[in-house]
Amino acid sequence: MNKTDHRIDAEAWPLKNRPARNAAIEAQVAALLGQMSLEEKVGQVIQADLASVTPEEARDYHLGSILNGGNSAPGGNNRAAPQEFLDLVDSFFRASTDKANGRTAIPIIWGTDAVHGHNNIVGATIFPHNIGLGAARDPDLIRRIGEVTALEVRTTGMDWTFAPTLAVVRDDRWGRTYESYSEQPDIIASYAGAMVEGLQGIPGTDDFLSHDHVLATAKHFVGDGGTEGGADQGDCRASNEEMRDIHAAGYPPALDAGVQTVMASFNTWHGRKMHGCREMLSDVLVGRLGFDGFVVGDWNGHGQVEGCTVTSAAAAFNAGLDMFMAPDSWKGLYETTLQDVRAGRISEERLDEAVARILRVKIRLGLFEAMPPKERAFAGDFSLLACDDHRTIAREAVRKSLVLLKNDGVLPIRAGSRILVCGEGADNIGMQCGGWTLSWQGTDNENTDFPNGQSVFAAVEDAVANCGGSVDLAPDGNWMEKPDVAIVVFGEHPYAEFQGDRDTVDYSSDAPLQMMKNLQAEGIPVVSVFLSGRPLWVNPELNASNAFVAAFLPGSEGAGIADLLVGDMAGNPRHDYTGKLSFSWPRDPMQTPLNVGDADYQPLFAYGYGLSITDSHVPVEHDESCALEVRGSYRLADLFIAGQARGGWQLLLAEDDGKALAINGPKVASASGLISVEAKDHKAQEDTRIATWKGPASLLISGPPTDFSREVNAQMSLIVTCRVVSPPAGPVMLTLKDGDGGEVQVDISQDIRSDNDWQTVAVPLSHFVSDKLNQKAVTQPFGLYAENPWSLQIEGIRVGSWESGDTNA
Ligand code: BGC
Ligand code: BGC
Repeated sequence: MNKTDHRIDAEAWPLKNRPARNAAIEAQVAALLGQMSLEEKVGQVIQADLASVTPEEARDYHLGSILNGGNSAPGGNNRAAPQEFLDLVDSFFRASTDKANGRTAIPIIWGTDAVHGHNNIVGATIFPHNIGLGAARDPDLIRRIGEVTALEVRTTGMDWTFAPTLAVVRDDRWGRTYESYSEQPDIIASYAGAMVEGLQGIPGTDDFLSHDHVLATAKHFVGDGGTEGGADQGDCRASNEEMRDIHAAGYPPALDAGVQTVMASFNTWHGRKMHGCREMLSDVLVGRLGFDGFVVGDWNGHGQVEGCTVTSAAAAFNAGLDMFMAPDSWKGLYETTLQDVRAGRISEERLDEAVARILRVKIRLGLFEAMPPKERAFAGDFSLLACDDHRTIAREAVRKSLVLLKNDGVLPIRAGSRILVCGEGADNIGMQCGGWTLSWQGTDNENTDFPNGQSVFAAVEDAVANCGGSVDLAPDGNWMEKPDVAIVVFGEHPYAEFQGDRDTVDYSSDAPLQMMKNLQAEGIPVVSVFLSGRPLWVNPELNASNAFVAAFLPGSEGAGIADLLVGDMAGNPRHDYTGKLSFSWPRDPMQTPLNVGDADYQPLFAYGYGLSITDSHVPVEHDESCALEVRGSYRLADLFIAGQARGGWQLLLAEDDGKALAINGPKVASASGLISVEAKDHKAQEDTRIATWKGPASLLISGPPTDFSREVNAQMSLIVTCRVVSPPAGPVMLTLKDGDGGEVQVDISQDIRSDNDWQTVAVPLSHFVSDKLNQKAVTQPFGLYAENPWSLQIEGIRVGSWESGDTNA
């Protein structure tokens, strides 16, 4: 992409005054700057991740901040007790304020992704993800959620949350669609200030950044929701006006509300990385919009800027990035940045400016007078996590975020009914919560991980207790005694970031539809509750349901769902549906981008749609003919699934020196028969392949050069779901190749169990990091080479985040 073909016109952005600075704070900043050594200043602009740093290192390198990333927790345990988090935060703070050997004691700030409640902490209130909150159209609710979140973050001694996300998501194939309040800028503009004030308190009052508040982050600046094809970290090609009026709509109100930090975005704008874009970070954000806090980078985002690496990033810093998020790269980055200043590649003025911005925020937060985290107000008071008041607000948020798409009159369910709750989501709080919950992807959560949460099943049970009703749980849909009505809870499995990128907006699972049809065939009315991070094409499921509720990702308060599904003994509603779609709902699995205001706007359910319980509604049949040959939407990270290589990838076999042969038919063998591959039924027809080696040969996946550096950066693995048919009698080399003949091999024979059970083998991509492989141009992301006979049945191959026990292949 030609980088000069698009000019960023800063003058076209509104000119706002910077909030007045406080003379006493400025004097304190100046005094500190005068005292700090060069080393101390450089450390101040670097943030490291908990998983890669100790308190002693943070002290010795004078680090300015620590974060706990989505998969980082005390002792690597995502279910660590809140007290363990508090202990760690406290020990880092104490180390940072150590004055021994003439150190300037600059207290550390701790950042966390509290993006739907304090979601990294077991037992916290988990609110609906932003997409559901958008349906509520209720800024006051958003403010209260911010207040609750801040207080719960405070119990663990942390100071700062990387929220709110102000992305205006335009293409719902993006895996982060659920982190967005709406496809429309006005909802985001009306929520941005409310959330910031809820988290930080109201500027100009004593409440601002007081002990029950935390720093907020407006993220990701800017254009994150506008990338081509909804690609994570992709290219936004919006015009200057679209950038200002759509994608940046949340920033002026967030700044008016005093937001203290802004996170630079991973995306490019017409090919230019936001992390290195001086016009946006400096000229627009600081110069025009009057931002007076500091700009933090995203997870190693500085390394993606032209001329930079994760450990050397002067260009990003000079463009206006004040604090690097350098999770695992902080040490190398510290050394290089120090040299950059000494060599003049970074000026002392620029360094002082960035440090001053960070110090100002720390002073405003009261950190220099603050007690160590453990001794602060609310610290350790874990009874505040999901206390009654907080759960009440979350339950209200759930009620307001549900959108009723269809109701032939079956809702509300009379409280005295015999109710069957079925489907995968019936008793599954993890599925209700989605990604960014206890772990990054949120994939392996059990109900026991939510001691204060309630599943839909448990909540419906509560709702009918003492009303003469009864509830049976049957995730597989098989009932013992015929129910009066069935609630089918189904939807997407948890995901985060690019793991959730899809190629279509089809909802692609067959099982729920079959369950609905079976129930209806028995004369049982079906109430569907759809858990999803975005609108998806569900016409067949809508037709097979008597009522259909889009619940998005409601979080831990299942009671909010039961409030709306179950009426009183007489069958009157206890609450009404007030949620209105904040995203347009597709009429076709390929209908994306789809946004209100499009020239040819023909959604199935328009932006703003949402029935009330009293609406008389004559259901219509929706067109079930599908634009896709085979229904299905694949994660772009899936290399092989449902018996086929996906995306641009091809499944091939090859003998030692022979030419690779594409595996197209159900049974393919190499020229001399050293390897053969056969389709085999497992959960569905021909959804797996059995590869059988008789001699030296390979099974390969190959395709056009593909950049895997962000997967490496995110510490991902190559994940293979498989079953050993007959065990290998020697090494099995997993081989990755690039387009220039580079390759790295790892023997994985010891990682594969030789019993006959299904297993998931996860090989960290870090094993392939080497100068022998160009990770930006991988042409063979998977290759199994063996010389001795063996046989393996494969169900799935993907690049993903391995979160202990995740078998979501
Ligand atoms: C995400 C941010 C997040 C950060 C820290 C990044 O990958 O893009 O939204 O705040 O990680 O977890
Ligand atoms: C971290 C997340 C981060 C992501 C970046 C993960 O390993 O846990 O916090 O957002 O990498 O892609």
